[in-house]
Amino acid sequence: TTLIWTVDKNNPDQNVIDRAAQIIKNGGLVAFPTETVYGLGANGLDGTAVAGIYRAKGRPSDNPLILHVADFAMAETLSAGLPPVAGMLMDKFWPGPLTLVVPRANHIPGQVTGGLDTVGIRMPSHPVALALIKAAGVPIAAPSANRSGRPSPTRAAHVQADLQGRIDAILDGGPTGVGLESTVLDVSGEQPVILRPGGVTYEQLADLLPRVTIDPSILGKKLSRDQAPRSPGMKYTHYAPAAPLTLFEGEPARVVQAIARRAAEQLARGKKVGILAFEENAPYYPQGAVILTMGQQKNPATAANMLFALLRQFDRLKVEVILAEGLEPKGIGLAIMNRLRRAAGEIVQL
Ligand code: TXA
Ligand code: MG
Repeated sequence: TTLIWTVDKNNPDQNVIDRAAQIIKNGGLVAFPTETVYGLGANGLDGTAVAGIYRAKGRPSDNPLILHVADFAMAETLSAGLPPVAGMLMDKFWPGPLTLVVPRANHIPGQVTGGLDTVGIRMPSHPVALALIKAAGVPIAAPSANRSGRPSPTRAAHVQADLQGRIDAILDGGPTGVGLESTVLDVSGEQPVILRPGGVTYEQLADLLPRVTIDPSILGKKLSRDQAPRSPGMKYTHYAPAAPLTLFEGEPARVVQAIARRAAEQLARGKKVGILAFEENAPYYPQGAVILTMGQQKNPATAANMLFALLRQFDRLKVEVILAEGLEPKGIGLAIMNRLRRAAGEIVQL
């Protein structure tokens, strides 16, 4: 059975943190909140413990994990040599939702890196995550705490739904903040490349790194089989709710019109239709549809915060199709569109 501990986000009980840390030190698995999504943690220096993460999630073992650290000194022990630009990025964005892919140190178990010669490192800003890593005294390897292929968890209840009985404990620190995973930035090569858009935006990075580029797979729908993605995670279906999702992209007025028409068609066929909409557009959709809103179009941070919870809610409501409004891929909107495209079975460009 899985222990569940409720902790105060800003002032976590040290006794609880110490018990969770002891599980990590003993080779067990603990889910914990970060400012992005919940992570499923194990001792990042213990290959056997890390193998347990893949088992619990049903995750392909060639998809590498991020090592979470509590301070810069711990990060330095994990790299064969931090590129100079890494220090600047750590100063500016850590603790926070930025993962740096750097040359790996030799002592990191192969289970963490999936056989690559690089490793992803991040210092989260969530007080519970930081307290747990400090108490464990080791870097914590942690992917998002969902079953592989499911939307990432932004609440402890999501972790329970996916992993209850498969892991040792869950630290419940309430809903997460950003709601989407960290930005993964590869600084191991000549030019910095964004491998996954997330909490730190392209615009923020480009301010500091004029030569930063975005991996072409990020807004592409599906990779062709011979195109090797630089971030192995990008080749798997992800974030998908149970019902097929159709994403509508383009000018907002056209998007609303096209979704309203498709919804009416599907309702006429007796289907249970879910619509993922911005608040201001909800009144234009048919009454019979299940409409879930993600705040206003002008506040994409709210959409990011709510997206994964809403996808899970469509599952619980047992809708048979989901029609989703897209948004401009700017700022945090780039990360939202990346997750929506990867959840989508069909994309309609208007
Ligand atoms: O916000 C987050 O990053 C959350 C929280 C828990 O920290 N973690 C997370 O982990 O999203 P995960 O495992 O679900 O996603 C990690 C991504 C994957 O796409 C993986 O392929 C990529 O980072 N990645 C990890 N190490 C890498 C490396 N050495 N080279 C390239 N990509 C790497
Ligand atoms: Mg994940």
